Amino acid sequence: MRILFICLGNICRSPLAETILNAKLAAAGLHAEVDSAGLIAYHAGEQADPRMRAHAARRGYNITHRARQITQTDFFRFDLIIGMDADNQRALQQLAPAQTAHKIRTAVSYCDKFRHADAVPDPYYGGDAGFEYAIDLLEDACDGIIATLQH
Ligand code: 4NP
Repeated sequence: MRILFICLGNICRSPLAETILNAKLAAAGLHAEVDSAGLIAYHAGEQADPRMRAHAARRGYNITHRARQITQTDFFRFDLIIGMDADNQRALQQLAPAQTAHKIRTAVSYCDKFRHADAVPDPYYGGDAGFEYAIDLLEDACDGIIATLQH
């Protein structure tokens, strides 16, 4: 299984999701290929946002990903392409080659505790609470992804 997380900049939400899922896969003794990418190239090559890395580190997650922009090849290479909000979903649907559009999911569709959440909101322009909420949502979503892999 190959899983690609997508957000706008690939410096906050999707590298967090990648890191959380890798940690949960290891804890569950499962293997999958996990990566993340952004819809925009603006931050390509950068480490994740220092605020995101600091909040994640306090929860035990070490984000090492370097940002990159999604490519057409990604739609063929990965089995699941998981976006963070409605803007991401719209952009992914527009970019996806038709025969790959069925791979697109939204992170909150895997949530259980936060099953009423409709997006993982962009924390970039907000304060500490937004980064903490992104971690809460994506831990819940990654638990749900792990459950689907175990069945
Ligand atoms: P992300 O957050 O999509 O979770 O990585 C953002 C980071 C940067 C920008 C937007 C969102 N930006 O416009 O630079």
